[in-house]
Amino acid sequence: LQVAIQNVTGYAGLTTALLLQQHPEFHLVAVSGRSEAGKTVREVFPYWPGWEDLRIETEVPAVDLVFSALPHGAAAAAIEPLYRAGSKVVDISADFRLRDAEVYEHWYGRHPFPELLEEAVYGLPEWHRAALSQARLVGNPGCYPTASILTLGPALAAGIIEHEVIIDAKSGVSGAGRGLSLGTHFSEVNEAVAPYAVSGHRHTPEIEQELSLIAGKPVVALFMPHLVPMSRGMEVSCYARLRQPTTTPEVLDLYRRQYADEPFVRVVDGPPSSKWSSGANTCYIHAAVNRQGTHLMAFGVIDNLVKGAAGQAIQNANILCGLSESMGLMMPPIFP
Ligand SMILES: NC(=O)c1ccc[n+]([C@@H]2O[C@H](COP(=O)([O-])OP(=O)(O)OC[C@H]3O[C@@H](n4cnc5c(N)ncnc54)[C@H](OP(=O)(O)O)[C@@H]3O)[C@@H](O)[C@H]2O)c1
Repeated sequence: LQVAIQNVTGYAGLTTALLLQQHPEFHLVAVSGRSEAGKTVREVFPYWPGWEDLRIETEVPAVDLVFSALPHGAAAAAIEPLYRAGSKVVDISADFRLRDAEVYEHWYGRHPFPELLEEAVYGLPEWHRAALSQARLVGNPGCYPTASILTLGPALAAGIIEHEVIIDAKSGVSGAGRGLSLGTHFSEVNEAVAPYAVSGHRHTPEIEQELSLIAGKPVVALFMPHLVPMSRGMEVSCYARLRQPTTTPEVLDLYRRQYADEPFVRVVDGPPSSKWSSGANTCYIHAAVNRQGTHLMAFGVIDNLVKGAAGQAIQNANILCGLSESMGLMMPPIFP
Protein backbone atom coordinates (compact mmCIF):
# COMPACT_ATOMS: atom_id res chain seq x y z
CA LEU A 1 0.00 0.00 0.00
CA GLN A 2 1.27 3.45 -0.88
CA VAL A 3 1.47 5.72 2.14
CA ALA A 4 2.10 9.45 2.68
CA ILE A 5 2.76 11.59 5.77
CA GLN A 6 1.73 15.22 6.14
CA ASN A 7 4.16 17.19 8.31
CA VAL A 8 7.12 14.85 8.66
CA THR A 9 9.02 17.81 10.16
CA GLY A 10 7.01 17.61 13.40
CA TYR A 11 7.57 14.99 16.12
CA ALA A 12 4.38 13.02 15.49
CA GLY A 13 4.92 12.83 11.71
CA LEU A 14 8.60 11.99 12.11
CA THR A 15 7.86 9.21 14.62
CA THR A 16 5.27 7.78 12.21
CA ALA A 17 7.88 7.75 9.44
CA LEU A 18 10.48 6.06 11.65
CA LEU A 19 8.03 3.37 12.79
CA LEU A 20 6.88 2.72 9.21
CA GLN A 21 10.40 1.60 8.27
CA GLN A 22 9.63 -1.79 9.82
CA HIS A 23 6.10 -2.14 8.44
CA PRO A 24 5.92 -4.90 5.80
CA GLU A 25 2.82 -3.60 3.96
CA PHE A 26 2.99 0.22 4.15
CA HIS A 27 5.43 1.75 1.67
CA LEU A 28 6.20 5.41 2.34
CA VAL A 29 6.13 7.23 -1.01
CA ALA A 30 5.55 10.89 -0.06
CA VAL A 31 6.15 13.23 2.89
CA SER A 32 5.49 16.93 3.39
CA GLY A 33 6.93 19.66 5.63
CA ARG A 34 7.07 23.31 4.63
CA SER A 35 10.33 24.35 6.28
CA GLU A 36 12.39 21.57 4.67
CA ALA A 37 10.63 21.24 1.31
CA GLY A 38 12.98 20.30 -1.52
CA LYS A 39 15.49 18.43 0.65
CA THR A 40 15.76 14.65 0.97
CA VAL A 41 14.74 13.11 4.29
CA ARG A 42 18.33 11.96 4.86
CA GLU A 43 19.59 15.55 4.50
CA VAL A 44 17.17 16.73 7.18
CA PHE A 45 17.24 13.69 9.46
CA PRO A 46 20.76 12.15 9.42
CA TYR A 47 19.45 9.17 11.43
CA TRP A 48 16.72 8.30 8.86
CA PRO A 49 17.05 4.52 8.39
CA GLY A 50 15.52 3.78 4.93
CA TRP A 51 13.93 5.31 1.81
CA GLU A 52 16.71 7.85 2.02
CA ASP A 53 16.07 9.37 -1.42
CA LEU A 54 12.55 10.43 -0.48
CA ARG A 55 12.19 14.18 -0.98
CA ILE A 56 10.18 16.40 1.34
CA GLU A 57 7.42 18.24 -0.54
CA THR A 58 4.99 21.00 0.40
CA GLU A 59 1.99 18.70 -0.18
CA VAL A 60 1.37 14.98 -0.56
CA PRO A 61 -0.77 13.26 -3.25
CA ALA A 62 -3.92 11.21 -2.63
CA VAL A 63 -2.30 7.79 -2.19
CA ASP A 64 -3.93 4.72 -0.56
CA LEU A 65 -3.32 5.88 3.00
CA VAL A 66 -2.39 9.26 4.48
CA PHE A 67 -1.14 9.94 8.00
CA SER A 68 -1.71 13.58 8.83
CA ALA A 69 0.32 15.11 11.66
CA LEU A 70 -0.36 18.81 11.13
CA PRO A 71 -1.47 21.28 13.79
CA HIS A 72 -5.25 21.38 14.29
CA GLY A 73 -7.14 23.49 11.76
CA ALA A 74 -4.39 23.12 9.15
CA ALA A 75 -4.95 19.35 9.34
CA ALA A 76 -8.64 19.34 8.35
CA ALA A 77 -7.98 21.73 5.45
CA ALA A 78 -5.13 19.57 4.11
CA ILE A 79 -6.99 16.29 4.63
CA GLU A 80 -10.30 17.19 3.00
CA PRO A 81 -9.20 17.02 -0.69
CA LEU A 82 -7.26 13.78 -0.14
CA TYR A 83 -10.18 12.15 1.66
CA ARG A 84 -12.60 13.29 -1.08
CA ALA A 85 -10.20 11.84 -3.67
CA GLY A 86 -10.48 8.42 -1.99
CA SER A 87 -7.52 8.16 0.39
CA LYS A 88 -7.93 6.53 3.77
CA VAL A 89 -6.81 9.07 6.38
CA VAL A 90 -5.58 8.78 9.95
CA ASP A 91 -5.41 12.28 11.42
CA ILE A 92 -3.10 12.64 14.44
CA SER A 93 -4.30 16.19 15.14
CA ALA A 94 -7.41 17.09 17.13
CA ASP A 95 -9.52 17.92 14.05
CA PHE A 96 -11.57 14.72 13.86
CA ARG A 97 -11.70 13.61 17.49
CA LEU A 98 -14.68 15.58 18.76
CA ARG A 99 -18.16 14.67 17.55
CA ASP A 100 -19.75 18.05 18.21
CA ALA A 101 -18.68 20.99 15.98
CA GLU A 102 -19.69 23.50 18.67
CA VAL A 103 -17.51 21.84 21.26
CA TYR A 104 -14.68 21.86 18.72
CA GLU A 105 -15.21 25.56 18.05
CA HIS A 106 -15.14 26.38 21.76
CA TRP A 107 -11.70 24.79 22.22
CA TYR A 108 -10.03 25.12 18.82
CA GLY A 109 -11.91 27.71 16.74
CA ARG A 110 -14.29 27.18 13.80
CA HIS A 111 -13.97 23.77 12.10
CA PRO A 112 -13.34 24.17 8.35
CA PHE A 113 -15.29 20.99 7.44
CA PRO A 114 -17.75 20.20 10.26
CA GLU A 115 -19.76 17.88 7.99
CA LEU A 116 -16.82 15.45 8.02
CA LEU A 117 -16.99 15.01 11.80
CA GLU A 118 -19.87 12.56 11.35
CA GLU A 119 -17.81 10.38 9.05
CA ALA A 120 -14.80 10.19 11.35
CA VAL A 121 -14.29 7.41 13.90
CA TYR A 122 -12.44 7.99 17.16
CA GLY A 123 -9.30 5.91 16.85
CA LEU A 124 -9.01 4.13 20.17
CA PRO A 125 -9.11 0.49 18.96
CA GLU A 126 -9.65 -0.94 22.45
CA TRP A 127 -13.06 0.77 22.56
CA HIS A 128 -14.01 1.39 18.90
CA ARG A 129 -12.58 -1.55 16.96
CA ALA A 130 -15.76 -2.53 15.11
CA ALA A 131 -16.45 1.02 13.86
CA LEU A 132 -12.81 1.46 12.85
CA SER A 133 -12.92 -1.60 10.62
CA GLN A 134 -15.61 0.18 8.53
CA ALA A 135 -13.98 3.64 8.59
CA ARG A 136 -12.05 5.70 6.05
CA LEU A 137 -11.35 8.73 8.27
CA VAL A 138 -9.92 8.35 11.77
CA GLY A 139 -9.44 10.94 14.48
CA ASN A 140 -6.40 9.54 16.28
CA PRO A 141 -6.79 10.24 20.02
CA GLY A 142 -4.66 12.75 21.90
CA CYS A 143 -1.88 11.42 24.10
CA TYR A 144 -3.45 12.38 27.45
CA PRO A 145 -6.88 11.06 26.36
CA THR A 146 -5.38 7.74 25.27
CA ALA A 147 -3.79 7.16 28.66
CA SER A 148 -6.78 8.50 30.62
CA ILE A 149 -9.52 6.61 28.74
CA LEU A 150 -7.66 3.30 28.77
CA THR A 151 -6.98 3.72 32.51
CA LEU A 152 -10.51 4.67 33.59
CA GLY A 153 -12.59 2.88 30.92
CA PRO A 154 -13.00 -0.52 32.58
CA ALA A 155 -14.15 0.94 35.92
CA LEU A 156 -16.72 3.20 34.21
CA ALA A 157 -17.94 0.44 31.88
CA ALA A 158 -18.51 -1.82 34.89
CA GLY A 159 -20.26 0.97 36.82
CA ILE A 160 -18.08 0.63 39.94
CA ILE A 161 -17.15 4.35 40.21
CA GLU A 162 -18.98 7.68 40.35
CA HIS A 163 -19.06 9.80 37.19
CA GLU A 164 -16.72 12.49 38.50
CA VAL A 165 -13.10 11.52 37.99
CA ILE A 166 -9.78 13.18 38.78
CA ILE A 167 -6.90 12.73 36.33
CA ASP A 168 -3.50 13.93 37.51
CA ALA A 169 -1.27 13.69 34.45
CA LYS A 170 2.44 14.15 33.71
CA SER A 171 3.95 14.44 30.25
CA GLY A 172 7.43 14.55 28.78
CA VAL A 173 8.32 17.71 26.86
CA SER A 174 7.96 16.23 23.34
CA GLY A 175 4.22 16.31 24.01
CA ALA A 176 4.42 20.03 23.31
CA GLY A 177 5.85 19.42 19.82
CA ARG A 178 9.05 20.40 18.08
CA GLY A 179 8.42 24.11 17.85
CA LEU A 180 10.52 26.35 20.07
CA SER A 181 8.93 28.12 23.03
CA LEU A 182 10.06 29.57 26.33
CA GLY A 183 7.81 27.12 28.18
CA THR A 184 9.76 24.15 26.81
CA HIS A 185 13.23 25.73 26.99
CA PHE A 186 15.71 23.26 28.58
CA SER A 187 16.74 25.55 31.42
CA GLU A 188 13.09 26.26 32.28
CA VAL A 189 11.80 22.66 32.34
CA ASN A 190 14.85 20.68 33.45
CA GLU A 191 14.75 19.67 37.13
CA ALA A 192 11.31 21.26 37.39
CA VAL A 193 7.70 20.15 37.50
CA ALA A 194 4.69 22.41 37.11
CA PRO A 195 0.98 22.15 36.30
CA TYR A 196 -0.30 24.03 33.27
CA ALA A 197 -3.63 24.86 31.59
CA VAL A 198 -5.23 25.14 35.03
CA SER A 199 -8.27 26.95 33.60
CA GLY A 200 -8.92 24.10 31.16
CA HIS A 201 -6.92 21.92 28.78
CA ARG A 202 -8.11 21.11 25.25
CA HIS A 203 -7.97 17.39 25.93
CA THR A 204 -10.67 17.65 28.62
CA PRO A 205 -13.68 17.59 26.22
CA GLU A 206 -12.18 14.63 24.37
CA ILE A 207 -11.69 12.69 27.61
CA GLU A 208 -15.22 13.54 28.79
CA GLN A 209 -16.76 12.65 25.41
CA GLU A 210 -15.24 9.19 25.36
CA LEU A 211 -15.61 8.37 29.07
CA SER A 212 -19.27 9.42 28.85
CA LEU A 213 -19.80 7.04 25.92
CA ILE A 214 -18.23 4.22 27.88
CA ALA A 215 -20.19 5.00 31.07
CA GLY A 216 -23.48 5.55 29.23
CA LYS A 217 -23.99 8.88 31.02
CA PRO A 218 -22.12 12.19 31.33
CA VAL A 219 -18.75 11.97 33.02
CA VAL A 220 -17.03 15.06 34.46
CA ALA A 221 -13.23 14.97 34.39
CA LEU A 222 -11.04 17.15 36.57
CA PHE A 223 -7.98 16.89 34.35
CA MET A 224 -4.71 18.44 35.50
CA PRO A 225 -1.65 18.11 33.23
CA HIS A 226 1.96 18.66 34.34
CA LEU A 227 5.13 18.96 32.30
CA VAL A 228 8.02 16.89 33.69
CA PRO A 229 11.68 16.90 32.64
CA MET A 230 11.81 13.91 30.33
CA SER A 231 11.84 13.84 26.52
CA ARG A 232 8.99 11.38 26.02
CA GLY A 233 6.50 9.35 28.02
CA MET A 234 3.51 10.11 30.17
CA GLU A 235 1.77 8.89 33.31
CA VAL A 236 -1.80 9.44 34.51
CA SER A 237 -2.88 8.90 38.12
CA CYS A 238 -6.68 8.66 38.17
CA TYR A 239 -8.99 8.79 41.18
CA ALA A 240 -12.74 8.28 41.59
CA ARG A 241 -15.12 7.50 44.43
CA LEU A 242 -16.34 3.89 44.48
CA ARG A 243 -20.08 3.23 44.14
CA GLN A 244 -19.91 -0.16 45.83
CA PRO A 245 -17.45 -1.97 48.12
CA THR A 246 -14.71 -3.78 46.24
CA THR A 247 -11.11 -4.87 46.67
CA THR A 248 -7.86 -4.43 44.76
CA PRO A 249 -7.82 -8.08 43.54
CA GLU A 250 -11.41 -7.71 42.28
CA VAL A 251 -10.59 -4.49 40.45
CA LEU A 252 -7.47 -5.99 38.89
CA ASP A 253 -9.53 -8.99 37.79
CA LEU A 254 -12.08 -6.64 36.19
CA TYR A 255 -9.34 -4.76 34.31
CA ARG A 256 -7.66 -8.00 33.20
CA ARG A 257 -10.93 -9.34 31.80
CA GLN A 258 -11.56 -6.08 29.92
CA TYR A 259 -8.17 -6.08 28.24
CA ALA A 260 -7.52 -9.85 28.03
CA ASP A 261 -7.31 -9.92 24.22
CA GLU A 262 -5.65 -6.55 23.70
CA PRO A 263 -2.21 -6.67 22.08
CA PHE A 264 -1.20 -3.24 23.41
CA VAL A 265 -2.68 -2.99 26.92
CA ARG A 266 -1.15 -4.81 29.89
CA VAL A 267 -2.62 -4.81 33.37
CA VAL A 268 0.17 -5.17 35.94
CA ASP A 269 0.33 -6.00 39.65
CA GLY A 270 1.97 -2.76 40.79
CA PRO A 271 2.30 0.86 39.67
CA PRO A 272 3.90 1.12 36.20
CA SER A 273 6.71 3.45 35.13
CA SER A 274 6.65 5.57 31.98
CA LYS A 275 9.98 4.00 31.06
CA TRP A 276 8.33 0.62 30.48
CA SER A 277 6.50 1.97 27.43
CA SER A 278 9.27 4.18 26.03
CA GLY A 279 9.47 3.59 22.27
CA ALA A 280 6.79 0.86 22.41
CA ASN A 281 3.08 0.88 21.60
CA THR A 282 2.07 -0.58 24.94
CA CYS A 283 -0.05 0.98 27.68
CA TYR A 284 0.59 -0.43 31.16
CA ILE A 285 -2.16 -0.08 33.76
CA HIS A 286 -2.47 -0.82 37.46
CA ALA A 287 -5.61 -0.29 39.54
CA ALA A 288 -6.14 -0.48 43.30
CA VAL A 289 -8.59 0.42 46.06
CA ASN A 290 -7.38 2.84 48.76
CA ARG A 291 -6.86 1.68 52.36
CA GLN A 292 -10.23 3.12 53.50
CA GLY A 293 -12.06 1.31 50.69
CA THR A 294 -13.66 4.52 49.40
CA HIS A 295 -11.78 5.29 46.16
CA LEU A 296 -10.41 3.67 43.05
CA MET A 297 -6.83 4.62 42.21
CA ALA A 298 -5.79 3.72 38.66
CA PHE A 299 -2.46 4.41 36.97
CA GLY A 300 -1.55 4.29 33.29
CA VAL A 301 1.62 4.92 31.27
CA ILE A 302 2.23 5.30 27.55
CA ASP A 303 4.81 6.78 25.23
CA ASN A 304 3.10 9.99 24.08
CA LEU A 305 4.69 9.72 20.63
CA VAL A 306 3.90 6.01 20.12
CA LYS A 307 0.63 4.77 21.71
CA GLY A 308 -0.19 8.48 22.20
CA ALA A 309 0.34 9.37 18.50
CA ALA A 310 2.29 7.52 15.77
CA GLY A 311 2.04 3.92 17.03
CA GLN A 312 -1.68 4.18 17.61
CA ALA A 313 -2.04 5.81 14.16
CA ILE A 314 -0.38 2.77 12.56
CA GLN A 315 -2.54 0.44 14.71
CA ASN A 316 -5.61 2.26 13.35
CA ALA A 317 -4.30 2.16 9.78
CA ASN A 318 -3.78 -1.61 10.09
CA ILE A 319 -7.45 -1.98 11.09
CA LEU A 320 -8.62 0.34 8.27
CA CYS A 321 -6.66 -1.70 5.74
CA GLY A 322 -7.78 -5.11 7.04
CA LEU A 323 -4.26 -6.04 8.22
CA SER A 324 -3.21 -7.63 11.48
CA GLU A 325 -3.62 -4.88 14.09
CA SER A 326 -0.12 -5.30 15.50
CA MET A 327 1.67 -5.42 12.13
CA GLY A 328 4.91 -3.42 12.30
CA LEU A 329 4.31 -2.49 15.93
CA MET A 330 5.84 -5.26 18.03
CA MET A 331 8.98 -3.28 18.93
CA PRO A 332 10.20 -3.66 22.52
CA PRO A 333 10.58 -0.66 24.83
CA ILE A 334 13.89 1.15 25.13
CA PHE A 335 14.82 0.23 28.68
CA PRO A 336 16.42 1.51 30.82
N1 LIG B 1 3.74 15.65 20.25
C1 LIG B 1 2.90 14.74 20.70
O1 LIG B 1 3.19 14.01 21.67
C2 LIG B 1 1.55 14.56 20.04
C3 LIG B 1 0.74 13.52 20.50
C4 LIG B 1 -0.51 13.34 19.93
C5 LIG B 1 -0.94 14.20 18.94
N2 LIG B 1 -0.16 15.20 18.51
C6 LIG B 1 -0.67 16.08 17.45
O2 LIG B 1 0.11 15.91 16.28
C7 LIG B 1 0.12 17.14 15.54
C8 LIG B 1 1.56 17.51 15.32
O3 LIG B 1 2.15 17.65 16.60
P1 LIG B 1 3.71 17.65 16.82
O4 LIG B 1 3.95 17.57 18.26
O5 LIG B 1 4.35 16.67 15.89
O6 LIG B 1 4.00 19.13 16.32
P2 LIG B 1 5.34 19.84 16.12
O7 LIG B 1 6.48 18.91 16.33
O8 LIG B 1 5.31 21.07 16.95
O9 LIG B 1 5.20 20.24 14.59
C9 LIG B 1 4.97 21.56 14.28
C10 LIG B 1 5.33 21.75 12.83
O10 LIG B 1 4.13 21.83 12.09
C11 LIG B 1 4.33 22.63 10.96
N3 LIG B 1 3.26 23.62 10.90
C12 LIG B 1 2.95 24.54 11.83
N4 LIG B 1 1.88 25.26 11.43
C13 LIG B 1 1.51 24.77 10.22
C14 LIG B 1 0.50 25.08 9.31
N5 LIG B 1 -0.38 26.05 9.56
N6 LIG B 1 0.42 24.38 8.17
C15 LIG B 1 1.29 23.39 7.92
N7 LIG B 1 2.29 23.04 8.76
C16 LIG B 1 2.39 23.72 9.90
C17 LIG B 1 5.66 23.31 11.13
O11 LIG B 1 6.59 22.62 10.31
P3 LIG B 1 6.99 23.18 8.87
O12 LIG B 1 7.26 24.64 9.06
O13 LIG B 1 8.15 22.37 8.47
O14 LIG B 1 5.81 22.94 7.96
C18 LIG B 1 6.00 23.06 12.58
O15 LIG B 1 7.39 22.98 12.80
C19 LIG B 1 -0.61 18.18 16.37
O16 LIG B 1 -1.90 18.33 15.88
C20 LIG B 1 -0.61 17.56 17.77
O17 LIG B 1 -1.74 17.96 18.52
C21 LIG B 1 1.09 15.40 19.03
